[in-house]
Amino acid sequence: MVGSNVEVDATMSLNGSLANGNGKSVEHLAVADVESFDPTAVVAEPVPPVVQANGEDGGKKREMVLGKNVGRCGGYPYNLDFDYGALSQLQHFSINNLGDPFIESNYGVHSRQFEVGVLDWFARLWEIEKNDYWGYITNCGTEGNLHGILVGREVFPDGILYASKESHYSVFKAARMYRMECEKVATLVTGEIDCKDFKEKLLLNKDKPAIINVNIGTTVKGAVDDLDLVIQTLEECGFSHDRFYIHCDGALHQKFHSRSLSEVSAFQATNCGCPMPCGVQLTRLKHINALSRNVEYLASRDATIMGSRNGHAPIFLWYTLNRKGYKGFQKEVQKCLRNAHYLKDRLREAGISAMLNELSSTVVFERPRDEEFVRRWQLACEGNMAHIVVMPSVTIQKLDYFLNEIIQGRSIWYNDEVQPPCLAADIGSDNCSCALHK
Ligand SMILES: Cc1ncc(COP(=O)(O)O)c(C=O)c1O
Repeated sequence: MVGSNVEVDATMSLNGSLANGNGKSVEHLAVADVESFDPTAVVAEPVPPVVQANGEDGGKKREMVLGKNVGRCGGYPYNLDFDYGALSQLQHFSINNLGDPFIESNYGVHSRQFEVGVLDWFARLWEIEKNDYWGYITNCGTEGNLHGILVGREVFPDGILYASKESHYSVFKAARMYRMECEKVATLVTGEIDCKDFKEKLLLNKDKPAIINVNIGTTVKGAVDDLDLVIQTLEECGFSHDRFYIHCDGALHQKFHSRSLSEVSAFQATNCGCPMPCGVQLTRLKHINALSRNVEYLASRDATIMGSRNGHAPIFLWYTLNRKGYKGFQKEVQKCLRNAHYLKDRLREAGISAMLNELSSTVVFERPRDEEFVRRWQLACEGNMAHIVVMPSVTIQKLDYFLNEIIQGRSIWYNDEVQPPCLAADIGSDNCSCALHK
């Protein structure tokens, strides 16, 4: 059992290896510091035995439900390509980052240094000056959207929320929760926001500030909204830069987007390869005061959606970001894009409707007719569409296995009487292989 003494030691180890051990302040946690971080030094106790691939653990047979599901993970954007053996000892600690990551609270077992290190990493990726942002590690992508949109509402209390109809459902949930006026904007066949419709809606509401959710990868089609065009449209409609607030939902593809986000007010990202759900939320420092309140009980500032926060996630994220580095991530992204193109091309060669957006690793294709197949491959479906998000753990071998199964399945599902569905309205006639469009 972990007693209170051990917890105190843990605090010191977490702080000591970074702030004290290096003689550096938390703000200067650099990528190179990974060498001095020795997570195995935290506790000497052995971890519980790992269940082996054959399901055996100390002579007891167990059903490997988790393991079985991992191999065929397709439709949901979880990066399963990680090895955190070195951090397994952290399970002994209850790590909680409640409060503002940039302000010391009275609760000692925290990982705020790692949290700030992760935020800095993303700020650098997105080319935001260090003293220009505030942020925290969220519990999920939904929390990032709830936060980004709430800050927008606090900055512009009478602002209207604009979001394309293909935005994640949490965006519309935020509008309901905050009782905001919300305009759903039409999309192009790719899934990108339709700026013609956006313009019409803006012109009808010129008297109120605009809060815009811009997608950097929509949930179903992985479409990337054209941020430049969104800003240009706002300007053309007479919205000066102090009358709009842009939140970027990059839950899916933030790593693919390397351009400067200088006009953006808030950003979020998830899926960096972490064993627990989490996300990264950044917002302009100048905006966060509109939301935050001092809380004496915390001896900190409340500027987050949740109270307690997972303190393990920042350590795992920090570890993986620093181990891989920007170059490592770039390579991973290239691999994902290559593999996504491979999947799309093989599907089309097999006469299966399929689409892959630019800058995306989400391959959209004809929904398999067999629901058991859909469940087995954990495909996310909407109407006649299914998709696979090609994450780093989705290898060519897995894709080949999947392709063989779907091709085999289709030879049973379809015949002269039952034809594959038409996907022209969903993904465009050029990408549709139905009897009419092939
Ligand atoms: C674009 C987008 N935003 C937000 C979310 C919400 O993420 P979470 O399920 O982590 O709350 C998702 C989830 O898939 C998403 O695709």
